[in-house]
Order: sequence, then structure tokens, then C-alpha cells
Amino acid sequence: MSTRKSKSTLTSLLEISQRDSARAQPFYCDDEVFDLDMQKIVTGKWLLVDHVSRIPESGQFFLYEVGRESIIVIRENELKINAFFNVCRHRGSLICLEKQGMRTRLTCPYHSWTYSLDGSLKAARFMPQDFKPEEHSLHRCHIRIHHGFIFLNLSPGEEPEFDQEFAVFEPHLAFHGFTQAKIAHKQSYPTHANWKLVVENFFECYHCTSAHPEYCSRHIPEALIAIGAGPNSGPADAVEAFAPVLEAWEQQASKMGRPLGAVDDDEHSRHMKFYQQRPHRSDIKSETQDGQPVACLMGECTAFDYGRMHLSYSPFNQIIACNDFATLIVFTPRSAMLTDVDITWLVNGRAESVDVDRMIWMWDITTRQDQVITENNQRGITSSKYQPGPLSDQERRMDTFNKWYLNQLAI
Ligand code: FES
Ligand SMILES: [Fe+2]
Repeated sequence: MSTRKSKSTLTSLLEISQRDSARAQPFYCDDEVFDLDMQKIVTGKWLLVDHVSRIPESGQFFLYEVGRESIIVIRENELKINAFFNVCRHRGSLICLEKQGMRTRLTCPYHSWTYSLDGSLKAARFMPQDFKPEEHSLHRCHIRIHHGFIFLNLSPGEEPEFDQEFAVFEPHLAFHGFTQAKIAHKQSYPTHANWKLVVENFFECYHCTSAHPEYCSRHIPEALIAIGAGPNSGPADAVEAFAPVLEAWEQQASKMGRPLGAVDDDEHSRHMKFYQQRPHRSDIKSETQDGQPVACLMGECTAFDYGRMHLSYSPFNQIIACNDFATLIVFTPRSAMLTDVDITWLVNGRAESVDVDRMIWMWDITTRQDQVITENNQRGITSSKYQPGPLSDQERRMDTFNKWYLNQLAI
């Protein structure tokens, strides 16, 4: 999209949003809006894409595909993971075609230009004498590893700030031991809906009682109403009513070593990150069907405290951790009406046996349910009769997200 075109699109979108809100039809359906979302929001964010244990050996790689971009994330050696745009410096072919695998070098399938694992061009046949291979290394993508999680940032130029932005998470991430974790299972749920519908659905628990009986069965009903979709996601009086229950559990969990606190970024923030913890139902040790654990404790947990943590670096990812396993949910915009939803279940790296079926039970069912309701939402929104309706008091965080989204577009 040209800058001129994007400016006029932006102006008309901001006008529409003032008239009809950020939930007007074009925001969920138009290719031009999707291009703008990629340019103004996705490209500048630190995106959590996976866990380092996905590629433990040198040469192992996977592709992260977002919008029209494809990024090769490849381990160079024990200490270093690189990220390159999957675009050959000769005539632009994709280099890696498989979603994941192992390579000792990266050879383009078109004319066999060959790159090493550090991205430098090592071989190019029949090139003129003055050809300088050192000027044709692969384009790097910014990459950071934080507590075992791999982050990419597609911004051009200098690496955007990371440490200060996410410093507030340090004790909570350490408590759950993500650096020493390993992947126990992965599953994909591609969803035919705009990425903002997928996020909005995750940012409200108004739909939980009608759509998610299994999820609700693990939780205190008052907690779901008050903070079911993150801090301040429910009505203010429900948050206040649940506060004593939360406080009592926090006191007990704190004695067992859990660091306390909450993060709740507002609509003016860079990443709209958040963090909170809360108790399960009193007989639920872990978010499994029978409430019993599936693996050994993670990180610094010394015993099951019947609680869970929900942490989000940005609207594009969610980490929900019990004491014995964690669920990483990643939302990746692919096109105006397609979003990848990928779930990775993590356990302690030293866990010897893991009951995968019991571990994935709740989030697998819940995500399939979300896939259906979100796709139905998208189909309804494409109708000529769609217009955004009023929000309930249990959709406060979704409203914050809509405002954050418009602020991001306007920057
Ligand atoms: S496009 Fe890759 S070698 Fe020609
Ligand atoms: Fe849901």
C-alpha cells in the first residue's frame, strides 16, 4: 500500500470509527484495513512466536508466517537462534518451503544460492567477477529470547526497546520456570475470522457461560464474571465483590512463594500487556478434567496452590499457567478474514511422563468452541444488516482493546 493511499484510508477509517466505533464492518473485512493493521500495529510489536525447546538442535528451524511475511527462525548453535526474512537475495523466491525441519545450510530451491545458518551468502553460481557475496546476506528480523520464549519484531532499522517494556513480568515468569520448560504438545486451530474478532473474543468472558461449559467447570463463577477475561474485564461491582476471595487466596499463595501483583495496560500503552493470577475452584489443583495434575511442578512452585496465572505480552499472545503445565496461545493475523490460532503446551523440562490427553482437554475443547463462535461472528459481520451493538458490562476489556487499536492506527 502506498503511503498516500494508506493516509486516505486511515483518515476515512478514523471517521468511520468516530461514527460507528472500531467495530464497524470495514475493520473486520477489508483487505486495505488488514494492510494498515500489519503496517501500523503488527510490524512494530514484539511478537511471541514460540518456545526455544521447539528447535533444540543446530540447524533446526520453523517458519513464522504473518500477513504476507514469512520468517525463518533457525538455531545457529547452542547459544544462538537467528531470524531471517524467507526471501532469497537473488530474485526473491521463498527459500524454506516446509513449515519446519533441519538444515545444515539454507539453499534456495530456484537457482541454488546457498546461505549459512548466520544468513551470509556462501555460494552463488556463474555470477560476474565483481559480485560481492557479502552484500547479499539474508535480511535479518529482530529476535529476542525472554525466559525461553522466542520474540520477533518485524520493524525495519534499529531494534525496538524490549527490556524495560517487559521488566515487570520478570518474577512471575521466573516463578513458573519457563526458561527450563519443554514443549509437551502443539495444536493448530486456523480460524476464518479477522484477528481483531479473535482477540475480542479472548478479551471478554460474557460468552463463557453459554459457550464454554468445560472451562466454566474449572472456575469460581464469581471470578469469571469479575475478571474472567483479565483484570477489569468484568463490571466494577463484581470486581469489588470478588476482591475478598482473591485476597484470601493471594495471602495463602504468597506464603507458598508465588509473587503477587497485576499488570493492566490501558489503551494508551505500547503493547496492552497484562498479568493477573487467581484461584481455580477449590477442588481444582490443575486445569484438567479431574482437577488432578498431569506432570511435576514447574519452576519455583513448591506445592500446588490451586491457582493459575494469565500473562499476555500483547494482544497477539496469551500464557495461562497452572503449577504443573502452561498453555501458550498465539494469534497470528494471516489475511483480512483468516487468523492462525496455535497452542503450545509446556511442562517442566525434567518432567518424565505427561498425560497429554488430560493436559490439553480444557483448552482444546475451549479453543474449538471459540473457533466456531468467532467464525459465526465473522459471517454475521459480513451481512449488509450488521451494525455494532452496545457492549455489556462484562466486555470492558474488549472496549479497551478497541480504543487501543484506534490509538495504534492514529500514531
Ligand atoms: S531466487 Fe533464489 S537462487 Fe534465484
Ligand atoms: Fe471463549
